[in-house]
Amino acid sequence: MSKANIQSVRGMRDVLPPTSQYFEQVIDTAKRVVTGHGYVPFVTPILEETRLFARAVGEGTDVVEKEMFTFGEDDDSLTLRPEGTAGMVRAAIQHGQLFGTTRFWQVGPMFRRERPQKGRYRQFVQFDVESFGIADASLEVELMLIHADIFQALGLADDIKLEINSILSHASRQQYREALVEYLTQRQDDLDEDSQRRLGKNPLRILDSKNPAMRDVIAQAPVLSEFADDESKRHFDRVLSGLSLAKIDYTLNPKLVRGLDYYNHTVFEWTTNTLGAQGTVSAGGRYDGLAETLGGQSVPGAGFAMGVDRLVLMLEHVSDTPKFSPTLAYVALLGEETKMTGLGVARALRQAFPDEVVLCHLHTGGMKKQLEKANQANCRYAVIIGESELEDDTVTVKNMRTGEQAQVSQTALVDKVKEFEQK
Ligand code: HAM
Repeated sequence: MSKANIQSVRGMRDVLPPTSQYFEQVIDTAKRVVTGHGYVPFVTPILEETRLFARAVGEGTDVVEKEMFTFGEDDDSLTLRPEGTAGMVRAAIQHGQLFGTTRFWQVGPMFRRERPQKGRYRQFVQFDVESFGIADASLEVELMLIHADIFQALGLADDIKLEINSILSHASRQQYREALVEYLTQRQDDLDEDSQRRLGKNPLRILDSKNPAMRDVIAQAPVLSEFADDESKRHFDRVLSGLSLAKIDYTLNPKLVRGLDYYNHTVFEWTTNTLGAQGTVSAGGRYDGLAETLGGQSVPGAGFAMGVDRLVLMLEHVSDTPKFSPTLAYVALLGEETKMTGLGVARALRQAFPDEVVLCHLHTGGMKKQLEKANQANCRYAVIIGESELEDDTVTVKNMRTGEQAQVSQTALVDKVKEFEQK
């Protein structure tokens, strides 16, 4: 057996500081915004029965055909979730949560066996937002307002644009599908191998082909929007007029069909030019038939999933220092005896200033080294406990901005810091 150090699995990253802190920033921001819109947390397992994804995402999709991490055979076959919507709808059916107006969010890792590259990983984090029970087009507009608020709060709004399309009602799309298959069958000799394969299973995805040899076939294919029935037209018109009213800019992209089978009516992607090939930072749409497909009642639904890894890459690009909790104080401790006392002093400060960081020096090292650390931590106060302070239950507190220093009793420290803060 090789004695080489064990490495992480291909495509599955370790996320270290400061990148891990940007992760927290994205997730915290998204949580705050969706909570403000009345969405509540929901947790589903990472492992589900394989047939859930086959049925919900679709047998003919790239995700189900090529990208799933699957274990076991036939009835025992389990899969690491490649996306969150299927599991959320499965759980909502199982626990009777589909009724009334329900708004949920979840965050966690998803798994797809894709070719790894920058912005594309085999384990990645999605912030997933789903809403059940609302058929009206105003739901799509709410989902876009949530996006706009999150991107604005992260300072990324200028670099992310919305692309949107309608893939029509199920009935209209079925008619379109028939016309498309008829056309493509006539041109079967011009189809590449991939498209030949897709023709029977997932003909709409042929329109997504990046092969230049397919360009001519695609250009002359029937056009989806021409098959829209009244319901499809009315719904999409209302989405678009709602977006205009909400002042959310969008680009109509008639080629946008999405790689998962459960959508109807509105589909959308938020994209950026700043990340190269993996520019879609969030995607979603309406999926009114999904609950029924999974054995539940017919309940409308819509949602989206943000690619947290990709938003983090954007943040790393634009900002030098993340806006993490400010460091209030560095507690410098001289000598072993002072350590336990220091922990209590630090705790009192944290309780008085719950949103801030208080660091406690528990290593060895002299005063000079510890004050250097305090400086590096960019803290506003150094709190020093040496032997003399330990003896008379005091601390020395130094205002790092003004240089002002005072020795006070341990119990008076919080008031002294508050006094300094007000100056
Ligand atoms: P999706 O387009 O497959 O949709 O993924 C949503 C987002 O997850 C993508 O736009 C991207 O930001 C991120 N993502 C996907 N694959 C990777 C990867 N390999 N590495 C890094 N990031 C990735 C869904 O998953 C749907 N469940 C979205 C949805 C929710 N629709 C309705 N509700």
